[in-house]
Amino acid sequence: MKALRTTTAAFSSFLKPSSTFSLAAAFQHHKIAHVPRISLTSSKQNTFRFMTTASNDTPSSSSSSTPPPPPPPKFDAEMAHLYQRVAENHYHENGPWNLMLKAFQDSNSQLEEQDPSFRLLDLASGHGEPCTLFAKTYPNAHLISTDFSNDMVELAKERTQHLSNVSVEQADMQDLRFESNSLDVITCSYGFMFPPDKDKAIAEAYRVLKPGGVLIATTWNQLPLMALVGDIMTKVLKLDQRPPPPPLNPMSLSEPHLFESMLEQGGFEVMTSTTSSYPFVLASDHDFSFKMVTMLIKDKLNELNEWDTARDAYNSLINHYAFVDADGNTVIDDNVFKLTVAKKPVMM
Ligand SMILES: C[S@@+](CC[C@H](N)C(=O)[O-])C[C@H]1O[C@@H](n2cnc3c(N)ncnc32)[C@H](O)[C@@H]1O
Repeated sequence: MKALRTTTAAFSSFLKPSSTFSLAAAFQHHKIAHVPRISLTSSKQNTFRFMTTASNDTPSSSSSSTPPPPPPPKFDAEMAHLYQRVAENHYHENGPWNLMLKAFQDSNSQLEEQDPSFRLLDLASGHGEPCTLFAKTYPNAHLISTDFSNDMVELAKERTQHLSNVSVEQADMQDLRFESNSLDVITCSYGFMFPPDKDKAIAEAYRVLKPGGVLIATTWNQLPLMALVGDIMTKVLKLDQRPPPPPLNPMSLSEPHLFESMLEQGGFEVMTSTTSSYPFVLASDHDFSFKMVTMLIKDKLNELNEWDTARDAYNSLINHYAFVDADGNTVIDDNVFKLTVAKKPVMM
């Protein structure tokens, strides 16, 4: 399990697949009937980076004896804006944020009754969700929206400036500045898939939560868009099978029970784990839909100067993955996510 986790967290390159790990799991739910098997070499280091990392985003290491982990690849400004458009879909009633709020209310109503000024930390908050939704629902609570990317932090500041109970700051979820046992709730929507050291991120969440505190997180189980991206890269790289996914891989925790077992190994008690799905409405503008789909591979396409091939591939593949709705929007359906609620046990 440990080796598997290391490998899923550190796909080294789109260019040189060679190894013992099957990517079948990462692609197991998408619409294509046959699942290619690709092998990778397990490595702690990403030898290839798709995203640049600004120096002021480099996290500090909390340990002087071990070398610091490589900085996570970054959601840059262009991605932040594209992601904001994609994220409009997440407001769906069956989307992550509504269901996270409901899970909190179901599992933690006592906390709210006892202490309306509870402290909630939102990790990998992006442009500020689900922090903003919780802040509006619980005006007496104290909420902190955090993200690794300064560009995302700026968007979150803009979106929450009218909310007096929210503060926004830059933070790497692998290395939090918060005191141990200081927070009542941690939320994290679509974030735990991205840090290179996911165990460290879980350990940090555990550390800063109070005993009895609750972690509510969503992770992707099935994302047809990633299969489409894989097919586009297969054509761009002229391969006969899908290459490994990019380092910023939303599917890195899609293996059944993987996230739950990582949480349990980190000391959490998993209370519930449920799945739900909703459609992604991309755009009626064909070019904009293409940009949204290729968001995670844009640096690679720039490096290879292969935008034309990618566009041709997208044009030939999109109907396989998407349909056009009555308003002319390209829609990708069957996006399945997992909502996990876990508790830091109260030690006796
Ligand atoms: C898919 S977005 C999720 C944003 C938001 N929570 C939502 O539900 O739409 C993932 C976010 O994780 C952030 N991220 C990636 N690595 C991170 C890390 N090590 N620490 C904190 N945030 C990170 C990215 O900058 C990005 O904003």
